[in-house]
Amino acid sequence: MYIDTLLSEADWLITEEDYHPEKNQFYETLFTLANGYVGARGSLEQGSQTGSPGTYFAGVYDPTPVFFTELANAPNWLNVKIVANNESIELEKGRILEYKRTLDMKKGLLTQIFRWEGAKGQITRFEDYRLVHLNYKHVALLKGVIVPENYDGPFVVKSGLNGYVFNTGVIEQLLIKHFKLTEYEDREAEGIYLEMKSRLSGISVGEASKLKLSVPSERSVEIDVDKITEVLTFEAKKGQAYEFEKYVTFYTSRDVEDVKFHTLKELNTRVDQGSEVLLREHVSAWEQKWLDADVKIHGDEVAQRSLRFNIFHLIQSANEDDDRVSIPAKALHGEGYRGHIFWDTEIFMLPFFIYTNPRAARSLLMYRYHNLDAARENARIQGYKGAQFPWESADTGLETTPKELGNPLTGETVRIWTGEEEHHIVADVAYAVDHYYVATGDEQFLLKYGAEILLETARFWASRVQYDDRKKAYVIKKVIGPDEFHEHVDNNIYTNYMAKWNISKALEYIDRLKQKHTDSWDKLKKKIVLSSREIREWKTIANNLYLPYDEKTKLYEEFEGYFKLKEIDISGVDSTGLEKIVKDTKWIKQADVVMLHYLLGDYFDQETKKVNFHYYKRWTTHSSSLSPSIYAIMGIEVGNYRDVYQDFMRSTRIDLDDEQGNTSIGIHAASLGGAWQVAINGFAGMRIKNGMLSFKPWLPEKWGKLEFKVKWWGETLNVAITHETVELKLETTDPTRTVEVNIAQRVWRVKGGETCVISVCSQ
Ligand code: BGC
Repeated sequence: MYIDTLLSEADWLITEEDYHPEKNQFYETLFTLANGYVGARGSLEQGSQTGSPGTYFAGVYDPTPVFFTELANAPNWLNVKIVANNESIELEKGRILEYKRTLDMKKGLLTQIFRWEGAKGQITRFEDYRLVHLNYKHVALLKGVIVPENYDGPFVVKSGLNGYVFNTGVIEQLLIKHFKLTEYEDREAEGIYLEMKSRLSGISVGEASKLKLSVPSERSVEIDVDKITEVLTFEAKKGQAYEFEKYVTFYTSRDVEDVKFHTLKELNTRVDQGSEVLLREHVSAWEQKWLDADVKIHGDEVAQRSLRFNIFHLIQSANEDDDRVSIPAKALHGEGYRGHIFWDTEIFMLPFFIYTNPRAARSLLMYRYHNLDAARENARIQGYKGAQFPWESADTGLETTPKELGNPLTGETVRIWTGEEEHHIVADVAYAVDHYYVATGDEQFLLKYGAEILLETARFWASRVQYDDRKKAYVIKKVIGPDEFHEHVDNNIYTNYMAKWNISKALEYIDRLKQKHTDSWDKLKKKIVLSSREIREWKTIANNLYLPYDEKTKLYEEFEGYFKLKEIDISGVDSTGLEKIVKDTKWIKQADVVMLHYLLGDYFDQETKKVNFHYYKRWTTHSSSLSPSIYAIMGIEVGNYRDVYQDFMRSTRIDLDDEQGNTSIGIHAASLGGAWQVAINGFAGMRIKNGMLSFKPWLPEKWGKLEFKVKWWGETLNVAITHETVELKLETTDPTRTVEVNIAQRVWRVKGGETCVISVCSQ
């Protein structure tokens, strides 16, 4: 009655239709609301036995045993509990007569509606929405109505700030409590305040909240271990709707010195502003985001909604105002991978930001720049030069990959080698810097920061390679490529090629700087102490890096010895079993050679890409969520369309369908970006060719049209693709502004104010 009028059209909604307690954690991830600064899992405001509530502030890490450090679960501000006529409303007890939760992706709201009958036959209706404000990053709001349908009696509404929360440790039995209480305070008319400090990293988190009711009530405050609760009591009348509002604000000592002052000041301001204004501004902030980021699919509602789900969570996960944080592999949605940051960000998510919100992309890259010294330290520790970005990164930029994963109760451990061997991340970061620069033309970023990353990563590779006398070439031994099923391998083609690319790019940028930006070049050369001899050495290495390739078959060998591995049948083997047997076989975890052919598309001819796609597709298990999207894109590129749609849908629905069975511990953030890339780089076939945008579309038969926008060198290009045409329009009407685009082997100049319709035929 109240909430339904608020909701957007069906293709913007994700709905939980029934209450199944065992699915709580799954929905908590899907329904996480965030704004890049803070993320709150979609736990029930009433609480539950099976949920795993989580509030995570980007960049608020705290050390742990084994895992180095993790994103620390901060006080839970969500709960609003009701005691109706002496009966506590708990969904797991009593009878649920009606239940629905809806994520409104257009407006950034999570709504809940339920009707519940308690043991005494009392029926209560509850409806509310919540938001984590997109504009005011330190603000959240819950607002709703409660209706006692068939009874009168005292109503107690309890609104808490609960610091008695834990991170799930190595195993569920071992919980880690990162925050200890420093202060709580009843501010009376101003609400309540809770402040806690992370144990080892010493970061203070302040949270304040105020509960308001639409009727006069009596107020009290309850104090429990690490918890403060505001309690409002009033006499409820049958059939009446009672409105409540819970305003919440938060700051951490990462943001401000006086956490308490800012948290309370913000609370007062927002309460004065009122919920209607806050809601309106939040919705309009989302509207703005969607204007740039939406991808419209005509003729396929499921695909439309699923793709939007991915875009929604990407938008939620970045904070363009904080360039010292990046997006963890599970975003701010859960504790999987301990909130660590992988190549997932640069290779899978970053493109979305480059083309829809370049400022956010720049911030994500600046996170790496700020950690360049730590990357130098990582290299030094491992005996290399230059900058070695860690496989898993957190707050300090030092390597945070655990060395082993184990169960202390059973003593069972598995050695993790990725931190020591998965070095391709270094080139992936360099690749992302180049990608950002080529698409934005952000010269200032390149000169001040990007070039240094490119050169220091090149320097790493030059120290990482070794000369092989027999091969008369430089080799890279003992690595793990994107396909993590095979460890300690020599000359992984993805790694070697990306290393070669990294060094060559650095040399290219050196030439550019020398010619066009002498001052910057002189400064940089001095800063990183780079000699001409070293540069000459890089050239030699780049020209002589060993690349395992069979000219006869045109096949790249994923790593030396791969072709000789066993070809066994794995049908019926489950994922745990798989990990144990695959290492001696050709089965691979995710796109590796195919990934390389996607990223460095211009370096390989069509036939080579095709042959390798066919070959490796057969052996790819897609055990990683990072895989189907890349196969969808490359399937289109090489004209192997059979599984494209299925792979696309799989990547858009990895979390919606809990494809990997672990959505409960956080969203698969790389796959969010992968899904977007299938739409743009796959179906629209967008690439950068010789510094120019190009499109080569192919749409699934049932799609009428695909529409989206991309930012390119400060311009916004509107793209609409049908089976017959590509329509391009610049957002500006200024005719002096133009973008050149390559379609169907021709260069088209799109001028501001004009619409360019180009005829294409998708097969
Ligand atoms: C994948 C990696 C990925 C990591 C974090 C692993 O399972 O193999 O490529 O970076 O998950 O998402």
